[in-house]
Amino acid sequence: MEIDENKLLEDALEARKLSYSPYSHFAVGAALLCRDGSVYPGANIENSSYPLSLCAERNAIFNAMMDGRKKEEFVALALIADTEAPCSPCGSCRQVMSELLPSDTPIIMSNLKGDKKVTTPAELLPFAFSGEDL
Ligand code: THU
Repeated sequence: MEIDENKLLEDALEARKLSYSPYSHFAVGAALLCRDGSVYPGANIENSSYPLSLCAERNAIFNAMMDGRKKEEFVALALIADTEAPCSPCGSCRQVMSELLPSDTPIIMSNLKGDKKVTTPAELLPFAFSGEDL
């Protein structure tokens, strides 16, 4: 399927408006595209007990899964934040992506200046720990 990266980034920018980030003041938006064209938004949701906060990327993935979507349906994930370079996913999100997204899924990273870099879960987390190690 043809992936319109800029459209998916617009969806991520829209999702970013839903960020609840009163502690870090760092709003992140994400959007997960499925094979049938549907898009699942995610934004970071923080908590006064800081470690309970959840990143935008994981919220987007979990949002899709809670709607019955499966790994095979995921075709691209975009994320955006107000960073100098295109916003890069944290280590926890990389671990979750490595298990829940196909390893070659385009991960479209961007910032508010319009810089863009595309990578994959396999590139983001080489030598990943997986369920097969258990
Ligand atoms: N954050 C994300 O949502 N995604 C990332 O890839 C990096 C970090 C959030 C977590 C926290 O709410 C805030 O950004 C600052 O770390």
